[in-house]
Amino acid sequence: MSSSTIEFDVKQVEQSKISQVDFNNIEFGKVYSDHMFVAEYADGEWKDFRIEPYANLSISPANATLHYAQSVFEGLKAYKTDSGDIHVFRPQANAKRMVISAERMCIPPIPEDLFMEAMSELLRLDEAWIPTRKDTSLYIRPVIFADDPYVGIRPSMTYKFLIFTGPVGAYYSEPVNVKIETHYTRAASGGVGFAKTAGNYAASLYPALQAQKEGYHQLIWTDGKEHKYIEEAGTMNLLFYIDDTLITAPAGDSILNGITKDSVLTLARDWGMKVEERRLSIDELLEAFKAGKVQEAFGAGTAATISKIKMIGFEGEKYDLPTETPLADKLFQELDDIKMGRKPDPHGWVYKV
Ligand code: COI
Repeated sequence: MSSSTIEFDVKQVEQSKISQVDFNNIEFGKVYSDHMFVAEYADGEWKDFRIEPYANLSISPANATLHYAQSVFEGLKAYKTDSGDIHVFRPQANAKRMVISAERMCIPPIPEDLFMEAMSELLRLDEAWIPTRKDTSLYIRPVIFADDPYVGIRPSMTYKFLIFTGPVGAYYSEPVNVKIETHYTRAASGGVGFAKTAGNYAASLYPALQAQKEGYHQLIWTDGKEHKYIEEAGTMNLLFYIDDTLITAPAGDSILNGITKDSVLTLARDWGMKVEERRLSIDELLEAFKAGKVQEAFGAGTAATISKIKMIGFEGEKYDLPTETPLADKLFQELDDIKMGRKPDPHGWVYKV
């Protein structure tokens, strides 16, 4: 429980839109709650903190973000427990990651207490928007973007920080087919792959679209130098359960440091499993497939939660994964139980609003 110490102006909607929403049929990322938080950066400080009705923004055609993508964002989720509490999963970790992303993009970071209080105040106001059906949640999207009306290249001097929310269902509604990408590059060493910044997602669209035409949902990105090692999927980190070991790519500057991935690794270690954060080459993965040692593969991300992989494609060959996925199922259930307050939270991941 927290009580606000930062002052916000709050302007509430005259009429809520909530009755127009079919909560039995929620897709990801299409519906937004009544209010949003807004802060402005100018003259070297964050100011003008306010909550107002969710609405379109008015920006200059010369807005620096439109042209040069100087922006960072986050994704996190709130849940309503059976006893009516609002739980947010690891929001402090998102606030910290947003600072790391912002620094890389020359964006003035948002102080963690402002992030937390703005989010909490918004959730209190739009509490009714938190869906309660199984596998649904309220997705929270904080974003900071450059706001200078200036088409020269330099870090902007003005920014907006917004938080808006919307009820969501599953990001991937079924186990996914993924293709190992060895031509296009998502991120290179020294680049911005670890930052949650707009351009990373824009750059991934074209290669992903080519794969979608071949029936894949997503790509498995490989390292930008040799295209030999597995990195991430763009919407989620990747984990492989090979033989008796859970393997994922090590944190580095070309991979987003996922909070769900970290939670999965922590649970697996708690359960005494062998966990390795190390480079996994395509060759090693294919050898493991041939030896029948790949037990499971899945993605982990806030939007995707635990997203099972049913087939991996590489150079025209298709490698099917077992349909029984006890580890992914157990991890999903454990995370769900912790988020919903049904099980103890030994790592202090749940933040009660
Ligand atoms: C998230 O998992 O929250 C993300 O930001 C990924 C995005 C592709 C929806």
